[in-house]
Amino acid sequence: MKRDKKTSIDYSRLPKHIAIIMDGNGRWGQKRGLPRLVGHKAGIETIRDIIKTSSDIGIQYITVYAFSTENWKRPEDEVKGLFSLLLLYLEKEIDEIHNNNVRLSIIGEYKKLPDGVVKKIDYALNRTKNNTGMVFNIALNYGGRDEILRMARNIYLMTKNNEIENVDEIDYNLIESLLYTEGIPDPDLIIRTSGELRLSNFLLWQTAYSEFWSTDTLWPDFRKEDLFEAIKVYQNRNRRYGGIKNGGK
Ligand code: FPP
Repeated sequence: MKRDKKTSIDYSRLPKHIAIIMDGNGRWGQKRGLPRLVGHKAGIETIRDIIKTSSDIGIQYITVYAFSTENWKRPEDEVKGLFSLLLLYLEKEIDEIHNNNVRLSIIGEYKKLPDGVVKKIDYALNRTKNNTGMVFNIALNYGGRDEILRMARNIYLMTKNNEIENVDEIDYNLIESLLYTEGIPDPDLIIRTSGELRLSNFLLWQTAYSEFWSTDTLWPDFRKEDLFEAIKVYQNRNRRYGGIKNGGK
């Protein structure tokens, strides 16, 4: 066991995939009498730090919930502002991401975002595609129900085209190959900030056995020490996947 004295983290048992519901940007701004977008801007600083820290300590996959299929309901100005911030982030950070050998990945219908954003994302995906370090996966125009619906429709089409001939061919492997997260292991740990205890349509299929950890801290105030705390708590949990620990021995 390689337990770090300072952080108490056991680096030989890190969660392979951490997925984060970044919540509380708007409230962070409002609490200071500032526009919600200032909170989002501060939230991006947190993303930068957490990506760097996670990659440095050897996490293999980080997924962040940046824009859900429901977020279109927000005021137009906020939606536009979020896309501008995403664009700016990609412009400013892509070199750093690439130099850290991080591979960018996207889940969700990102092609429905404004053209300029789609172009920048495609550039960033292409630029980092051969990187072998951590995968930084951004959920954009993503919804768990939407993802499941899309999978079911694809199965219908495959059946119609005789690509599926027998009902037994529809199994977990086939389903997982038709989700946005194809090739990405299920998250071991879900972190949600700002005290809410909901999944909010995030990774519904993939979180069947994920450990959930929530903090009252708002996302812009989330620091690497909070990440370490979440990992520590995760490492003290007893994951049973519906069975009993050590087969009951
Ligand atoms: C959560 O706070 C914030 C979001 C869901 C949006 C985060 C996305 C960005 C900042 C765009 C850029 C993304 C990347 C990956 C660079 P909230 O608005 O739900 O806060 P509230 O609960 O206080 O209203």
